[in-house]
Amino acid sequence: MIDAGKLVREMQEMRDDGHLSDALLRYAVRNIAADDDRFSWVGVYLLDGEGKELWLHNYIGSPTEHAKIPVGTGVCGRAVAEASNLNIPDVSKEENYLACSPDVQSEMVVLIRAGADIFGQIDLDSEEPDSFTDDDEAGLQAVADKLAEQLAAERR
Ligand code: SME
Repeated sequence: MIDAGKLVREMQEMRDDGHLSDALLRYAVRNIAADDDRFSWVGVYLLDGEGKELWLHNYIGSPTEHAKIPVGTGVCGRAVAEASNLNIPDVSKEENYLACSPDVQSEMVVLIRAGADIFGQIDLDSEEPDSFTDDDEAGLQAVADKLAEQLAAERR
């Protein structure tokens, strides 16, 4: 379980010191991945300017061929199309799924958003089935919200 409160505080300190979203996005991914052995792959995708594709910003885990994902495609693209976080307990039952590694069994997507404005998402894979909990989602949402604050500030 990640210590989201600590991570959010550290990210705010980075913002206070003048760090931009690029640094925060990398810091968040690195710390989420380091905090919990359940997560075999942790990454951030950002929505392109036209809102049509997710572009991989940074990740920890095996290299993936899914550097760009159209909105609506895969679990990642579906989360954006539905404007909703997704918790997928068994990826083998997903028809709309893009495999990153054959060992992945469950996946969670948490949106980085300011209200209706979606900036991107945190995407996590696990090699255990049904790995992700409501507590994970709440903690990851707090981290995602802090990322959204910085991304929104940079787009003003
Ligand atoms: N599984 C995701 C693709 C991203 S990779 O897991 C890194 C999907 O179905 O959209």
